Amino acid sequence: MTKKITLSVFFVLYIIGNAFSQQALNPIPQIVQKNGKHALLVDGKPYFILGGQAHNSSGWPVMLPGVWSAVNEMHANTLEIPIYWEQIEPEPGKFNFSIVDTLLLQARQHHTRLVLIWFATWKNGSNHYMPEWMKRDAAKYPNVTGRKGQAIDSPSPLYQATLSADINAFTAVMAHLKQADQQHTVIMMQVENEPGTWDSVRDFSATAQKLFEGAVPQALLQPEVLKALNVTTANGNTWQSIFGDRADEYFHAWHVANYIGQVVAAGKKVYPLPMYVNAALRDPLTNPSATNYESGGPTDNVIPIWKTAAPAIDLLAPDIYLNGSEKELKVIELYNRPDNVLFVPEAGLVSTNAKYLYSVIANNGIGFSPFGIDGNDVNSPQNIKEGLIPFSREYKLLAPMIRQLAKWDYDGMISSVVEHDDHEQQTIDLGSWQAIVKFGERKAGAIHPNKEPLGGLMIVRLGDDEFLLVGTLCNVTFCPLKNNTGRAWQYLKVEEGKYDKDKFKMSRILNGDETDWGGPQFESDPVLLHATLVVR
Ligand code: DGJ
Repeated sequence: MTKKITLSVFFVLYIIGNAFSQQALNPIPQIVQKNGKHALLVDGKPYFILGGQAHNSSGWPVMLPGVWSAVNEMHANTLEIPIYWEQIEPEPGKFNFSIVDTLLLQARQHHTRLVLIWFATWKNGSNHYMPEWMKRDAAKYPNVTGRKGQAIDSPSPLYQATLSADINAFTAVMAHLKQADQQHTVIMMQVENEPGTWDSVRDFSATAQKLFEGAVPQALLQPEVLKALNVTTANGNTWQSIFGDRADEYFHAWHVANYIGQVVAAGKKVYPLPMYVNAALRDPLTNPSATNYESGGPTDNVIPIWKTAAPAIDLLAPDIYLNGSEKELKVIELYNRPDNVLFVPEAGLVSTNAKYLYSVIANNGIGFSPFGIDGNDVNSPQNIKEGLIPFSREYKLLAPMIRQLAKWDYDGMISSVVEHDDHEQQTIDLGSWQAIVKFGERKAGAIHPNKEPLGGLMIVRLGDDEFLLVGTLCNVTFCPLKNNTGRAWQYLKVEEGKYDKDKFKMSRILNGDETDWGGPQFESDPVLLHATLVVR
């Protein structure tokens, strides 16, 4: 071999080797499962989204300074931000990805990851983000027709022309990302936004009616799906005969899911980032009829339909705007399933919602994000809302330890309680110990209840007698369980500190008044404690 050939061979091997090691160093984000627990892997390691979602019209260069101020203020590690079909494909087949490139560049400058939200066929049940050339052609891209023949402000999921147009645009987005984002600044895609239909349970057009009167798709007739939906085929194979009162809604859910499942599958074929769909929720406690909420979206009752119709979708995600701790906690429970990893992409930006960050982590979730973090005022983009404070206090403490926390979460080591609307004390079973949590602030030896239910405590079980505690507006004490029930106990040591580069750094030892008399106490600025306990 000549010297020149040898050098060229080495060069080619170097390039190949480098490409492989780049891939190993920088694998594509993915959702994985182990021992019934889920994790979102980013750069090959568990990641938890300490997120913030921008307002709907903030995905424009003019708005981004305000968005980044809010992200920084919050200590968020991930920005959720919409990208708009109408902007990206202003003329059929002519794409403009400048906003995607701007977001990638600025996110990297701010050391922040992105979840991009594809506002396309559906945005809150309507077609308002379809490009003008589609909106002008209602015959080709039809809306839903109501039961009485009335026009409904919601795209029908039944037309191939609309589906093909969405697939064409979304795959173009994914192809662009694949080449423009080799470092995976974008870690996940939300496909559509709160899809489904307000003001009609389904499409009642002639086309839809014909389908509705036909047989239910075979995939839905699998025994495990029928069982999950609590129905049988005893009365026949039509939507009405199987699903009765729920037939209209389930028919719509099937078709919306099937449509989005195809968009997701096509996008993943180009570039397989994790992809999810978010839900406008229904009351999770009363099984209301679908005339009371957005029909066809992934509400808790139709999760089995969505899973069957759209297996390419990684997860179905609840947007939490309900009122009251009972409903909110029920939703968190309902979307944490063996076949669905919990992610809350939107929660109302109200102080009583910040505590659910603890619940999402303890329910093996992969992320949490309040909605509308930026001021959304072009004249004062720096206008950061007061509302961010309860969220940013938590994020500030957790951000430096979030990778470690995500790993503990994946290993099932985290429990939490959050204050209910009744403010009652709660307990956490930790194996050899029970934690007793009272909500409020301790003043002059007494616990004064919180005016609003803002309290919460999260506990990481590091060992039988060793715990990390993160708490807000509550007080915790312990009681020995199992073989030691009834024995006296004491703290060996309670250290207050912070995480720095994945290591706990103690700043002081809490003792005396700070731990005696049934402490420690957590105030409105959350703190991290490392506690070891002993029985005597
Ligand atoms: C839920 C939607 O998903 C968001 O895009 C936004 O419209 C909020 N509602 C408004 O509160």
